[in-house]
Amino acid sequence: MTSKFAEKVVLVTGAGSGIGRQTAITFAKDGAKVIVSDINANAGQTTVDEIIANGANAIFVQMDVSKSEEVKSGIARGIQYFGRLDCAVNNAGIGGRLAPTADIHTADWDKVLAVNLTGVWNCMKYEIPHMLKLESQCAIVNVSSIAGLVGMKRNAPYTASKHGVIGLTKSAALEYANNNLRINAVCPAFTDTAMLDEMSIEKPDLKEKLHQGIPMNRLGNPQEIADAILYLCSDKASFITGHAMPLDGGLSIQ
Ligand code: NAI
Repeated sequence: MTSKFAEKVVLVTGAGSGIGRQTAITFAKDGAKVIVSDINANAGQTTVDEIIANGANAIFVQMDVSKSEEVKSGIARGIQYFGRLDCAVNNAGIGGRLAPTADIHTADWDKVLAVNLTGVWNCMKYEIPHMLKLESQCAIVNVSSIAGLVGMKRNAPYTASKHGVIGLTKSAALEYANNNLRINAVCPAFTDTAMLDEMSIEKPDLKEKLHQGIPMNRLGNPQEIADAILYLCSDKASFITGHAMPLDGGLSIQ
């Protein structure tokens, strides 16, 4: 049986942990060659080692998505190694410090927007030209959040950045809809990763509280998010572009 992503080259940012890591590993299991990218070299290399140990092919490229020059050269290096780029998952993101809007420090605002929003645009800026050179179908999935669809108290920079990712996704999807390039976003609700672990340090009962707000009464797990991302990148989603897909156990339908 042919694997779904055989001969495809996929870039995943923030692939050293959580959703990105699981997405990179799942793509590799489905036959893709994976450009694993992260700001954290040890974490990213660990993902690559696991993929290679399972008999697939991956390369690590270190980059801070908020730094345009690093993104430009990192993407170029990955593409030089594998020769093409078919799919990209712009997933790298940070949670930021929780505070009411008027108490947010300018530096915290700037940092969250730089990584979560400008970071996605930086990646798209250097992914899209390579994809347009291919004659086959290409796809980008940007990782937004349920916070890209609804407001969240004490989390304005994150919420603004994730709403921004959806706007960026829709605009770009329109621009390239007729160029064999589909661009979608996923909007996970609270998913059990290092990001939530970090936020739980200040608030130990956070995970318990969060899953009570989800109709399915549990957190998401990274594999569930990875599976939806792979679907949106696959030919099964060939008529879907500009969509922001909630992956939230029913949270956003209340
Ligand atoms: P995580 O903290 O487990 O993984 C994030 C990865 O991104 C880490 O490996 C980190 O080193 C990397 N990273 C951070 N800043 C970076 C930068 N400037 N450049 C490159 N890499 C960088 O987090 P998780 O939960 O896997 O988050 C992945 C994405 O999913 C993020 O965009 C996050 O906002 C989004 N998300 C997460 C949810 C959750 O509840 N965990 C819910 C909704 C969205």
